[in-house]
Amino acid sequence: MSRVGAVRERWEERVAKERGRPATSTVLWDGVRRLLADAAGPAGGGGAALSVVDLGGGTGGLAVRVAALGHDVVVVDPSPDALAALERRTAEAGLAGRVRSVQGDATELADLLPAGSADVLLCHGVLEVVDDPAAALRAARETLRPGGLLSLLVAQWPATVLARVLAGQLPQALHALSGPEHRWSGTDPLHRRFDRASATQLAEAAGFTVTAVEGTRTFSDLVPAARAEAEQDVALLRELEARAARSPELLALAAHLHLHARR
Ligand SMILES: C[S@@+](CC[C@H](N)C(=O)[O-])C[C@H]1O[C@@H](n2cnc3c(N)ncnc32)[C@H](O)[C@@H]1O
Repeated sequence: MSRVGAVRERWEERVAKERGRPATSTVLWDGVRRLLADAAGPAGGGGAALSVVDLGGGTGGLAVRVAALGHDVVVVDPSPDALAALERRTAEAGLAGRVRSVQGDATELADLLPAGSADVLLCHGVLEVVDDPAAALRAARETLRPGGLLSLLVAQWPATVLARVLAGQLPQALHALSGPEHRWSGTDPLHRRFDRASATQLAEAAGFTVTAVEGTRTFSDLVPAARAEAEQDVALLRELEARAARSPELLALAAHLHLHARR
């Protein structure tokens, strides 16, 4: 299996795990819905059909949810396997007319889609695996209309350090803490991890204005699975995640950062 395939598989395992853990995915989905409503603006009453690009959208877990809200989504991804799974998923959901798949690389966006054509561009879990994240974000910006919105989700390194320490994997924790790209070893499937400063800087260097930064999965990966699944704890965990998402003090502990940014 390719390195990118391995990353996607792990990511999907995690997303599947999260489906059984409603508390973890709620913060991100709420953030995405708010960003879509912002893009629709008051004139659209938050309900206008938007043109959305999901860059590195993979098998379309997010694209299908966005399309189900009534938006038109183009998923751009280099993996033919992922796009085949996406097409099956959209057909099953009865959303084939709303989701289009385009095989290609982030740096080819200008050749794949008209410049300035997207109201919203989703870029989730992608900057960690591409060769040149700055070039990917510049291409994303060109695809957005002026004033269009970027939803950027990146893995955060302090959470990885903490998780490795808690798992007793101290050499990997040290590697992730001290290495320039914050990988936990040479076999880490991710090329790099970010923090608030580095992710914000990258987005700003590509010409975006960052309007919000939220943490996702601050506690969910730390809490014992049995507790995360116990009915009475799900609501508490959801409340904890929602409050932590916007706490400046807790932001560094979040597994992922969700940046909202405007072109
Ligand atoms: C970790 S998965 C994230 C999938 C999806 N965005 C999500 O949030 O579930 C990373 C995705 O990036 C895609 N990818 C890898 N290299 C890419 C590139 N150069 N340009 C665009 N997408 C890329 C992979 O095929 C994979 O689908």
